[in-house]
Amino acid sequence: MSAVLAPDPQAFKTAVRAQWDQSAAGWNAHTPQIRDWLRPATDAMLDMAGVAPGMQVLDVAAGAGDQTLDIARCIGPQGQVLATDLSPAILALAQENARHAGLDNVQTLAADGERLPLAQGSFDAAVSRLGLMFFPNPLQGLRELHRVLRPGAGLCTVVFSRPEKNPCLGILMSTALKHAGLPPRDPYQPGTLMSLGKPGLVDELFRQAGFRDVATTAMAAPFRLPSVQHYLAFIRASASPIQHILGKLDTAAAQAAWDEMEERLGQFSTATGWAGPNELLLTAARR
Ligand SMILES: C[S@@+](CC[C@H](N)C(=O)[O-])C[C@H]1O[C@@H](n2cnc3c(N)ncnc32)[C@H](O)[C@@H]1O
Repeated sequence: MSAVLAPDPQAFKTAVRAQWDQSAAGWNAHTPQIRDWLRPATDAMLDMAGVAPGMQVLDVAAGAGDQTLDIARCIGPQGQVLATDLSPAILALAQENARHAGLDNVQTLAADGERLPLAQGSFDAAVSRLGLMFFPNPLQGLRELHRVLRPGAGLCTVVFSRPEKNPCLGILMSTALKHAGLPPRDPYQPGTLMSLGKPGLVDELFRQAGFRDVATTAMAAPFRLPSVQHYLAFIRASASPIQHILGKLDTAAAQAAWDEMEERLGQFSTATGWAGPNELLLTAARR
């Protein structure tokens, strides 16, 4: 089993960078909700990567740095965390968030995760939370992680699992495509949210990149929010492909799509709010 590559990786990355530059503020504004949603997965990720006081840690596709700040607190003043991301705009927010938190052991570097301008064997641990699935060539990203980690260092990545376990993502996409008059898409399309969700795929890519002791844990990660409207506000604010698809429609047609998504996602409303099911794959290994 191997990951299929995106057709034009360079054009794809240019588009991804532009989308995240544009959505940086929206993603950052949702940090409290993202933090709550991903709390158990983030704690487990740091643990599985073996992040510990005094370490040099690499955070790939760090975004606005929510998990970077957790790493910074864990490694303490003797350690150093380097947050890298394709989008300079979102990384600037990570740096600002570190400054506000009074953490001076955080550095940032705008870089493509598939081409890290970093020396071989320079990190004691590495993580990537909800980033690797956006890489057009995730194997190349893992080879780069393998190169920059010292022998014995730990790695843990977090990605979405398969469509049946992440029904909200499927509802958003199928509704948007229908309203835009476009055909259904392969949910495992390279570079998209669930591209690494096929059981066994991430493990195999880790092994192909040279990692050992590879193990994946699936973790339920329901997104609990006060209402379905809060979830759609998050989707609108993040660099979601849904925005891109609906961006081609006029305002009324796009609104009709958002209305249908709200209705379909309403099935996850509960007596105490809204809880959208999600499942994440945490893959850990050693260099
Ligand atoms: C869903 S966000 C996750 C951000 C952060 N890790 C978090 O969990 O809050 C995905 C991030 O992946 C970054 N990204 C996408 N493709 C990348 C690539 N090829 N190299 C580095 N970062 C990339 C995006 O710019 C974005 O900041």
